[in-house]
Amino acid sequence: MQQSSLPESWDLDKVLDDLNESGFAVIDNVYPAAYVDSLVNECSSHLAEFRAAGIQNGIVSHIRSDHILWIDEQLPIAQQHINALKNLSQLLNQAFYLGIKEVEAHFACYNAGEFYALHRDNPQKKNDRMISTVFYLHEQWQEDFGGQLRLQDKNEQWHTIEPLPNRLAIFQSDLLHEVLLSKQQRLSITAWLRSGNSLWNA
Ligand code: OGA
Ligand code: MN
Repeated sequence: MQQSSLPESWDLDKVLDDLNESGFAVIDNVYPAAYVDSLVNECSSHLAEFRAAGIQNGIVSHIRSDHILWIDEQLPIAQQHINALKNLSQLLNQAFYLGIKEVEAHFACYNAGEFYALHRDNPQKKNDRMISTVFYLHEQWQEDFGGQLRLQDKNEQWHTIEPLPNRLAIFQSDLLHEVLLSKQQRLSITAWLRSGNSLWNA
């Protein structure tokens, strides 16, 4: 993948139009199969290190039950995805003047029975998350597995997005959304495109 450009399959014009009109966009067949395989391997080989996402400062949250692993330079395959998102950020900045400067990301694993209740990634614009992205990593997905991303777009219409493998969902971080209960192991990378302008992080 080139540093300065997006993967070939990404239809940037459509992404920009969809973000402009509804505040979210979906890209399918995001990466070549060989890259997806290596990313799935990297994720799977670190599953034992994932930690409960709902626990902060020792307090257990009941709104989410997934497990996560923050991505750093120890995870070089995932870094390539982050680089693609950095390139996307530059293009979003040019189109929408979002001022995105950083990308923060973690792997997430929802085991059977896990979910993430309705929330916003940037409630009342209290943090600097501008755009949220989720890339789905499990090898196959069927409708009856659950685990859909339900999202209210900026025109207050609700959408149900299947977490299909090799799909990237992109949405404004201030939109209301949830992950429905998953009946199978559901693997993803969540990444936030951030402006770096926040006083505190949520
Ligand atoms: C999140 C989130 C959605 C998804 O991690 O904040 O809302 O589809 N994820 O995994
Ligand atoms: Mn979220």
